[in-house]
Amino acid sequence: MCGIVAYIGSKNCIPLLISGLQRLEYRGYDSSGIACIHKSTISDYKAVGKVKELNSLIEKSSIDESQVGIAHTRWATHGLPSEANAHPHLSTNRKFAVVHNGIIENYKALKSNLEAKGCKFQSETDSEVIAHLIEQLYDGDLVAAVASAVKMLVGAYGLAVIASDEPDKIVAVRNGSPIVIGISENESIIASDLSAIVSHTKQVIFLNDNDIAIVTASNVEIRNQENVPISREIDTVDWDFSAAEKSGYEHFMLKEIFEQPEAVGNAIRGRLDHVNNSALLSGLNMDAQDLVTIKRIIIAACGTSLNAGLIGEYYLEDLAGLVTEVEQAAEFRYRNPLVDAETLCLIISQSGETADSLAALREAKLKGSQVAAICNVVGSTISRESGRGIYLHAGPEIGVASTKAFTCQVSVLLMMALKFARARRYTYTDAAELINEIEKIPEYIDAVLKQSKKIEKIAKRWAHATNWFFIGRGYQYPVALEAALKLKEISYHHAEGYHAAELKHGPIALLDENFPVVALAADIDGKDKTIGNIEECLARKAPVIICATQGDKSLASYTKDLIEIPASSKYIVPITATVAMQLLAYYVAKERGEDIDQPRNLAKSVTVE
Ligand code: F6R
Repeated sequence: MCGIVAYIGSKNCIPLLISGLQRLEYRGYDSSGIACIHKSTISDYKAVGKVKELNSLIEKSSIDESQVGIAHTRWATHGLPSEANAHPHLSTNRKFAVVHNGIIENYKALKSNLEAKGCKFQSETDSEVIAHLIEQLYDGDLVAAVASAVKMLVGAYGLAVIASDEPDKIVAVRNGSPIVIGISENESIIASDLSAIVSHTKQVIFLNDNDIAIVTASNVEIRNQENVPISREIDTVDWDFSAAEKSGYEHFMLKEIFEQPEAVGNAIRGRLDHVNNSALLSGLNMDAQDLVTIKRIIIAACGTSLNAGLIGEYYLEDLAGLVTEVEQAAEFRYRNPLVDAETLCLIISQSGETADSLAALREAKLKGSQVAAICNVVGSTISRESGRGIYLHAGPEIGVASTKAFTCQVSVLLMMALKFARARRYTYTDAAELINEIEKIPEYIDAVLKQSKKIEKIAKRWAHATNWFFIGRGYQYPVALEAALKLKEISYHHAEGYHAAELKHGPIALLDENFPVVALAADIDGKDKTIGNIEECLARKAPVIICATQGDKSLASYTKDLIEIPASSKYIVPITATVAMQLLAYYVAKERGEDIDQPRNLAKSVTVE
């Protein structure tokens, strides 16, 4: 959510900042801007829309070379997307420029104070107060001014600040919004995530909350807010740069859908214990006694990760007999949840930075619960603060609509349930078949991907429909929720996921011949009852698209629009059915010509509440 990139070094920073912004664009793309220092003056350039607009503005202008600059791509929180609201924000005397991710909650009070002191505001943003505050507090020492300014801020922030009088440094601060610093020879790059850094260097420092970094071309010094120097480790990140490229696919989303056999393969690799027919998952750091001591699991997450959590609930209850509840992370954190030392609070987050999920983790820890996390982004805040958990190894997910992270999350949850199950009530023999099935997940996904042309045809036939229901039961109910989320976020069609039994309790009133219902009716428990619900929809003239098990003849008479997934155990169906639904959503959005990787109003990694 919003992207920051900043550069100081021996090269011209402008093209580097533009390419960094392009890599970060998935985090926000309603406007962008750059500020750089040249001959002790700050120049700034801002444009509404994608980074390409900023790039053409810069190409047309006679911009001088600069070796130090900060840049930002925005996802609006305060004020419409406009040039004035785009970052960087400059102070009244134009000697300080700031880029900010996060939200400053007390900005109104600060703003009226600063206005009373004569500061001239140009934007409606909360962020601009930071530039003016620094100007007011500056006494010849940028680091001291920034340190004093952040003490006055309430909220979340990741910041990069430059001052025209101190062109030899960038000051970066982190509090609740990630900042990572890449270190290379004669240059340093600051960014809100690794994607803007890994093409330059794999040596990085992740800032912790309240760290203030003084970054020069040749050095990174970190202090706490009391100005005491602190040391942070330099990490070497294992990130394949090409993973953040489209590699010939039209969209990142399509690439990531097709990457799922490999991504899930990576999530599973080395984690199945064939000697004991269990799962290893060493990052969970739980021995057999820990596994039986846990009395209850609470899964807290948001969006697609929340839907993965719902499937996890079924796995943990079904396989391990463990009481499991799933909570929207924001609700969990404010609801005064009942947890104790025998509760495991499991946070699921692709990015590992989602503000509400992070807050849920902190709340659970504070209340004495055990915690663990399932994250994709290595070194992310949730993964670090949870102290134990399972990485997905899905590779970077760039498409805003989450796809491969979901199937990896579900695969990891299945392995986790297997591990708990083996400790609690599953026999060696019970587990053998499940292990076999888990190993075949990549193959099963592959079989769904082979149906893509057929799914595309169905999507084209129904792309005009502006209202959609998705229905399912049991393991296919959370799939209905995820399928509806996917369709609405990239096609902008109204879509809702329901338990198949729920339609007749109200929603069925909406159905007519223009309102498709997608029924998830693979041949596992609940199929026969879902057929009854399909009949009810057809009786209201609603067109029905059915996702069924390959070779299941019993459903062909209900629809011409049959999507097939391979026959597998019920535990695998939520994965294969979701892949089919991802393709359906993708092709509907493509048929409508929507901006699939950067859907309107959305951004990857939601770091505000
Ligand atoms: C939907 C989507 C979002 C995220 C949600 C949580 O396609 O991507 O709903 O799943 O914002 O994000 P993470 O998993 O990063 O915590």
